[in-house]
Formats: sequence, structure tokens, C-alpha cells
Amino acid sequence: MSSIVLFGPPGAGKGTQASAIMQKTGLPQVSTGDMLRNALANQTELGLEAKEYMEAGKLVPDELIISLIHERLKEEDAIHGVLFDGFPRTISQAESLAKITTVSMVISIQVPDEKIIERIVGRRMDPETGEIYHVVFKPAPEELKSRLIQRKDDNESTVRSRLEAYHSQTAPLADYYNKLGILENIDGDQNIIEVTNSIINLLV
Ligand code: AP5
Repeated sequence: MSSIVLFGPPGAGKGTQASAIMQKTGLPQVSTGDMLRNALANQTELGLEAKEYMEAGKLVPDELIISLIHERLKEEDAIHGVLFDGFPRTISQAESLAKITTVSMVISIQVPDEKIIERIVGRRMDPETGEIYHVVFKPAPEELKSRLIQRKDDNESTVRSRLEAYHSQTAPLADYYNKLGILENIDGDQNIIEVTNSIINLLV
């Protein structure tokens, strides 16, 4: 079992790029953000516990995230590895992950902070398909626009907290994975197709 990690600041384009990687590798996407939002929508104990952290733009405690991942990796589709999106986010999460699966590549998508805010504030999601749009950079088809939603944490003040959490707790992981020789840096400050092409080149 060998997995890939999609790494980068909030709004870097991890979710956007995940589908091309899934298509290329056949690995299922495991997004801790999506799993937490589902848990919250279903009012589970985990979802309710995670809510205040997510709405404040803070990281959810490691032990909650690690047990979520433990359970997810027991599922049949994870047997040959998965594509992690937004996990791990702390050194402690990475160390726990190393005990349960092999990570063969960490794709780090880097975007300057000043570009992140406009990406996140303009993001819209299709709740029926999970498709990610942007009011300027990836407009949704006209007929879908009325059903699009905006994430509760996609506002400027929460994004600033998420960026702070990223720089203090998550960015050090780049060094951790670089030392293991598996970090691949991608310039995320290009258009969506250019970023996809750079990533696909890594996977051939
Ligand atoms: P999570 O859902 O993981 O959010 P995130 O990491 O902040 O990442 P995003 O989903 O915001 O961004 P993305 O990189 O996927 O960007 P996207 O492709 O959508 O986490 C949410 C919260 O859950 C966290 O704050 C935390 O509380 C908690 N959490 C989750 N995992 C956790 C963990 N492991 N540990 C602890 N807590 C955890 O793109 C963004 C926008 O930009 C879109 O509109 C898109 O269309 C546009 N876009 C994408 N690429 C480009 C491009 N190249 N050019 C122009 N626009 C682009």
C-alpha cells in the first residue's frame, strides 16, 4: 500500500487538482476537510466537536483526525493506498500516518498568501456533485449557479487564521518530507490547467 499526499496552504488548489490525480493513479481521494464537513452535516459527535475549530480557522486536534484516518484506511477501496488531501497537517499526524501506510510522494502546491484570499473568498461549491468553482477563475455553468453554496469558513477573517495555522503548524512538514526525499514542489501560481500539467508530469 502506497499513498500520495497533496500538500499546500488553504486554497492552493488541492481539491481542484485531486480529480486529475485520481484519474491518473486510480487512488481514492481522502480529504479530512470533506470528512469533517460530512460529520458536521450529520451532527455526529466528531462533527460537533470539530465545528468550533473549523469555524475559527484552527486545526482540529490531532487525536480526532488520526482516529478518523485509521477508520478510513480500513475500508476496502484504501487497500492499495489513497490520495490524501489536507492530511497530514502536523508533524504528529505525519508520524502517526507513517505507522499505518507508506507515503511515496508528497505533492506540495505553493501559492503566495496574497493570492490565497481572493481564491478562497471567490470559491463556490456544488453540493450535489462536489465540484469546486470560482466566481472569476472557474465560473460555474449558468444553469448551476443558483444551487452553489459558499463554505462557512470561506471568509476573509477565517482565511487569515487558516493561513496562520498553516504557516505555524503545517508548513514545517515540507522540511520533514523533503528530508525523506519524497517532496515534489509545484508552482500553484499558474492557471488551473498549467498546474494540472505540472502535476501529471510528476506521475508519468
Ligand atoms: P480543508 O477543507 O482541508 O481546507 P483547506 O486546507 O483550508 O483547503 P481548501 O479546501 O480551502 O483549499 P484547496 O487547496 O482544496 O483549494 P481548492 O482546490 O478548493 O480544511 C477545512 C478545515 O478543516 C481546516 O481549517 C481545519 O479546521 C479542519 N481540518 C481539515 N483537515 C485537518 C487536519 N488534517 N488536521 C486538523 N484540522 C483539519 O481551490 C480554492 C479556490 O481557488 C477554488 O475556488 C478554485 O476554483 C480556485 N483555484 C484552484 N486552483 C486555481 C488556480 N490555479 N488558479 C486560480 N484559481 C484556482
